[in-house]
Amino acid sequence: MAKSKWTEFTQNAVGTEQLKSAGNEFKSGWKAPSNIAIVKYWGKKDGQIPQNPSLSFSLNGCYTQTQLEVKYSPKGFSLTINPEGKEFAPRIEQFLRNVEPLFPFLANVEAKVTTVNSFPHSVGIASSASGFASLALCLCHIEEQIKGNLGFGSPFLRKASYVARLGSGSASRSVFGGWQEWGYLPELPNSTNEYALSLSPIVDPKFSEMRDAILVVSSSPKVLSSTQGHALMANHPFADARYAEARINLNAILKALRKGDLKRFFDIAESEALTLHGLIMSSKNQPMLLKPQSLQIIELIKAFRTEKDINIGFTIDAGPNIHLLYTSDVAPIVEAFVNEQLKPLCENQKVIFDSCGKGPELV
Ligand code: DP6
Repeated sequence: MAKSKWTEFTQNAVGTEQLKSAGNEFKSGWKAPSNIAIVKYWGKKDGQIPQNPSLSFSLNGCYTQTQLEVKYSPKGFSLTINPEGKEFAPRIEQFLRNVEPLFPFLANVEAKVTTVNSFPHSVGIASSASGFASLALCLCHIEEQIKGNLGFGSPFLRKASYVARLGSGSASRSVFGGWQEWGYLPELPNSTNEYALSLSPIVDPKFSEMRDAILVVSSSPKVLSSTQGHALMANHPFADARYAEARINLNAILKALRKGDLKRFFDIAESEALTLHGLIMSSKNQPMLLKPQSLQIIELIKAFRTEKDINIGFTIDAGPNIHLLYTSDVAPIVEAFVNEQLKPLCENQKVIFDSCGKGPELV
């Protein structure tokens, strides 16, 4: 585990005695969004340190709502999770044990986690991002309650992002609404591998209204988990070139986001998505994640873009589903195109219309 900010965040950490004297029992509930990466995080080092910086925006309708209750127990740590969260139980338990030095009060609590996603796991949207972001926010909020603090300023969000990262790298970005960057980029002040930054203040307003039509080509469980995917990069022949390219793309996309340059933005977004799949295809013995319908959808998007001469584009996660990105001014014509031409290519005609969201909420 990388420890550099660890010391900063373990200073004044709250222990069992403080928990007991502040009232024994605390609870917190947060809704945190999923996010879609435009510059992809693909490859990591020990301690959840990314090999390259990444950039994403938070979604609005795809989120996880988590409630965490902790109650002092002299018997040590125990955990119960609601049936919907059971699938993640081993990962959540491991995470809570890992972060105990940051939250020493966890050593003596009965913890109860109740977690619900607004979207099915199977649609290929990263639920680990929204799941760990919401859990990290609950933990940091309980810590603040024990300390008697109110309010959720920048230091609170920074710590929540740091903690979320330890659960899942992309979760560090889900602590913020709008646009986020995670990972050290020399040209971006304050960027760090340890937590994400909100980019909302520098982004042209047209990007704050970005829409995402998620075209669900297949809802089968993920063939390649993120953990397996990151590991593929360890011995990948193109790894170094990829990490360098991600930095170049990130600098260029930051410029496009500032200037409101949609054309340049979509060019880079598509290249990043196809590079991710290119890297997977050129890893040893890996399955093809894109389906024939994924490619048909891409072709149709390109043809529609040329025919109508509008700025739209796509991105893809590590699966077969296509995210069609467009701005609100062209939403009516793009959504008509989706319904007429793309929906029939989706599994059970499943499309999720989502958009750039405002970020986590206390519930
Ligand atoms: C392709 O954040 O899910 O979605 O850190 O191992 O939990 P872990 O990986 P995860 O990886 C996300 C990979 C990606 C690209 C991205 O979101 O940047």
